[in-house]
Amino acid sequence: PGVLFITPEVYPLLKTGGLGDVSAALPAALREIKVDARLLIPGYPQVLSGLKHKRRVAEFTAQPPFPPSVLLSAKLPLGTSGNVPVFIIDCPVLYQREGGPYVNAAGHNWPDNALRFGLLSRIGAILASDASPLAWRPHVAHCNDWQSGLVPAYLHFHQGEKAASLMAVHNLAFQGIFSADTVAQLGLPAASFHINGAEYYGGMSFLKAGLYYSDHIATVSPTYAREIQMETLGFGMQGLLSARRNHISGIVNGINTADWDPATDPDISRNYTANKLAAKAANKRALQRFLGLAIDPGIPLFGAVSRLTYQKGYDLILQVAMQLTEMPGQLAILGSGEAMLEQALTALAKNNPGKIAVCIGFDEKLSHMIEAGADSFLMPSRFEPCGLNQMYSQRYGTPPVVHATGGLVDTVVDCTPVTLADGSASGFLFFDMTADSFLGAIRRVTIAYNNKPVWRRLMKNGMAKDFSWRSSAAAYRRIYLSLLS
Ligand code: ADP
Ligand code: GLC
Repeated sequence: PGVLFITPEVYPLLKTGGLGDVSAALPAALREIKVDARLLIPGYPQVLSGLKHKRRVAEFTAQPPFPPSVLLSAKLPLGTSGNVPVFIIDCPVLYQREGGPYVNAAGHNWPDNALRFGLLSRIGAILASDASPLAWRPHVAHCNDWQSGLVPAYLHFHQGEKAASLMAVHNLAFQGIFSADTVAQLGLPAASFHINGAEYYGGMSFLKAGLYYSDHIATVSPTYAREIQMETLGFGMQGLLSARRNHISGIVNGINTADWDPATDPDISRNYTANKLAAKAANKRALQRFLGLAIDPGIPLFGAVSRLTYQKGYDLILQVAMQLTEMPGQLAILGSGEAMLEQALTALAKNNPGKIAVCIGFDEKLSHMIEAGADSFLMPSRFEPCGLNQMYSQRYGTPPVVHATGGLVDTVVDCTPVTLADGSASGFLFFDMTADSFLGAIRRVTIAYNNKPVWRRLMKNGMAKDFSWRSSAAAYRRIYLSLLS
């Protein structure tokens, strides 16, 4: 089948989080199993400058309020994603600006986001229907998060031939909520402004439209698929989601096993494998030196890399940091996001020189250095649709400590006497979102760390796991095929 994968970000052109990684790796994995997956993405400056050999393939004349735009095509650069064709919407007034894809330099949402991602959705729907100017037509429109949530709505109201739609939820916390008049402005019929439609507490929501009008819904892990049908993690959508439960699939993300491979990773000091674990120590030393931590091979070094938001539970890291250093332990943190968290973490590092290091910013190379150099990786997420770093950690022999939520439950096996004996133990889970519960798991890490045979077993178990996209790409393929029949 042909699949149009509509996404607001893709690695390595532009990435703010896991969706960027998934948008590169999943389409590439799909192409390997004969699914003709192609991407549609806005023409941000990084996308236009990052893609070579662009070809102009269609023009869209203004259909108010959308400005005119040009559709370009190219191929994704780099590594295993190198063969994925990409369509780029070149619309300078909406996409050619300095700042992030969703927020400006000051961290505020772009005021015209409804129009910016309305256009992405509109063109996605056109390309997926008989209104398309292209010879290539997908059988399925695979939409990702709220930014492409209107695709299923446009398709629903399109009279004529059209693709089936799949709404993939990477994070239900981002809902694309705008004022009620946006519905008419973006050319959706008044009928869609309904509780059974795009209406959401008096406004409209791109995500809700996608969840309501899509033919099928996917979430990025089985546990998250269940969690979002309940009030705590349903973010107001639990009613709609539980009503559609027979049309929801939870498919755990994979990782790009070529980019994230300690045996070949060019960003780390020394490459290593499960059979050459001694070389990992060189990465720890390099990381300690780079971050100004005390150079000590024997002290457990905990790493963390994340967007700094309420979701990621860094308030817990702040609460346990001092006790962690007293165990003893070291902490290496890379992150960017909410100003309050950035400031608190910066102060923490300043007050604990040699013990705690914090880098504020987005740094792909340093994120690899932390995965390789740390002994254990912290991920106390309040909720986590899937999470990628816990998989990177296991692959890098850096057993993670994770809150038992969402995809973290589905991808990390808690270290217990039973799981150690059966060879499945690969990390540490904690079950209450409290500093005590988190600290308990960190304490278990330090005990296991000091028992060399146990620690080696844990590292090797994680490194042996298959986190590739193979089986999940096949699961998506089965959904596409079921939507066709
Ligand atoms: P989310 O998508 O919610 O941010 P994921 O764990 O799925 O969480 O994916 C996050 C991705 O973004 C990972 O590849 C992670 O390494 C990366 N990342 C997050 N923050 C940073 C940062 N400050 N510097 C470098 N990479 C980061
Ligand atoms: C989201 C989620 C994260 C997930 C990623 C990719 O940003 O927060 O858990 O791994 O999307 O699906």
